[in-house]
Amino acid sequence: MTEVASVLYGREDIRRRVEELGRAITGDYAGREPVLVSVLKGGTVFLADLMREIQLPLEIHFMAISRYGTAEESLGRVQILLDLDVDLTERDVLLVEDIVDTGLTLSYLLSVLRARGPASLEVCALLDKSVRRITPLPVRYAGFDCPDRFVVGYGLDVAERYRNLPDILAVEDPRAVRDDPDLLASLLIAP
Ligand code: IMP
Ligand code: MG
Repeated sequence: MTEVASVLYGREDIRRRVEELGRAITGDYAGREPVLVSVLKGGTVFLADLMREIQLPLEIHFMAISRYGTAEESLGRVQILLDLDVDLTERDVLLVEDIVDTGLTLSYLLSVLRARGPASLEVCALLDKSVRRITPLPVRYAGFDCPDRFVVGYGLDVAERYRNLPDILAVEDPRAVRDDPDLLASLLIAP
């Protein structure tokens, strides 16, 4: 039997890279108090680790969105289910995302946030699937340039499952796992 999924980025690689990103952000935002914005739910695991590597006063805030179909179908337009309860005027906003794929969702969100008058607005994404990009989108801080594979773990899900895997795994047959989310269940049990 072929493996259903294999480790693409292990927990130790992730830890090291998150530490480097935190160091870069600490340097770049020295003297300022950034507002880290995370979109529920995928980016929360990354946010939790990243924020502890940033040695500055900061705030974290959350948004929740719902997509109409796929990003391509909706051209990235989303409905905001939970909005920020912070005024972004003249704030240094850093949008923290798990993965940027086509970039459509994020570019729509950036336009929404930009309209609120922040002093600066940048993106920090753990994974950048740059080969899939449809709309140009500057990712100021990218953890890994991710191949065009379907990945799960470390916050990333398939049908709301597997966000709690400590490593990031590439799934061999994403459609099969979408049809039967139990296919990867054995990965949740430590060997
Ligand atoms: P896009 O950049 O607008 O195409 O959409 C990005 C969103 O799609 C991410 O925030 C994820 O929720 C989801 N996504 C894209 N690629 C993957 C993947 O490989 N695994 C899990 N979710 C993904
Ligand atoms: Mg997401």
